[in-house]
Amino acid sequence: MKHEPQGIVSHYLHTQVKEGALLQFTGPSGKFTFSEADAESVVLIAGGVGITPMMSVVRYLTDRSWKKDIFLLFSCKDRVSIIFREELEYLQKRYANLHVTISLSQENSPAEGIYLSGRITKEVLNARVPDITSHRIHICGPVPMIDAVKQILSELNVPKENVRVELFPAPAPPKKTPVPPLGATSSTDTAAVVTFVKSNKKALLTPDKSILEASEEVGVNIDYSCRVGTCGICKTKLLTGSVTMAVEDALDDDDRARHIILACQAKATGPVAVDA
Ligand code: FES
Repeated sequence: MKHEPQGIVSHYLHTQVKEGALLQFTGPSGKFTFSEADAESVVLIAGGVGITPMMSVVRYLTDRSWKKDIFLLFSCKDRVSIIFREELEYLQKRYANLHVTISLSQENSPAEGIYLSGRITKEVLNARVPDITSHRIHICGPVPMIDAVKQILSELNVPKENVRVELFPAPAPPKKTPVPPLGATSSTDTAAVVTFVKSNKKALLTPDKSILEASEEVGVNIDYSCRVGTCGICKTKLLTGSVTMAVEDALDDDDRARHIILACQAKATGPVAVDA
């Protein structure tokens, strides 16, 4: 596993875990997936370690000899930092419908086969992906790269509903800050309160604080992973009150009908109670 100093899991495993340690894992989750039935073609745009979920898609589709076009555009610093380099070169030779482009942002050599110098630009996308508005597009990588690619796709008139995004690495959990006791006289007098019914605990909410963050402050355990509303690990039942969620990609209609919320996204300005 590559050590990402800013990453939560790889940094912990590299610096804290010793050989022989017993680890408990949960399986993969979320909706950042693609299968044959989802679209007639797919464009996968990855930055750095954001290649990992894309490789799952590439392996899945090539294993099944999917005949439709798979465009993979992978941005790396240089050739040394290309993850899965040998496998990508092998797959590119073997599958005619797989179109790999690896852009090397810190190299300055002429384009050669699947390799380009520089970043993934509008010109690169236009040249490497014919008729880009017609494809399903998945993007995974660091936030600046995702923002830049989304801007380019918007300029290329790609419909928003064609685009799926996953941040990699996920944002780190917030630092814990002391919470004034309920009833204290302060600027939080107007804050809402969340009641964690199972745990029999309460926490103050401010407009910018999620229910997940509030739970962490008072020691209530709500499982989480992505913290950006896509994996669904933090699903929690809302018992009373109402919340707003900036992103709710991990919820489906059935969840909504059962008043399931994403604790990492849910914010409230009035009293709420959740099943946690
Ligand atoms: S932690 Fe992933 S959706 Fe909330």
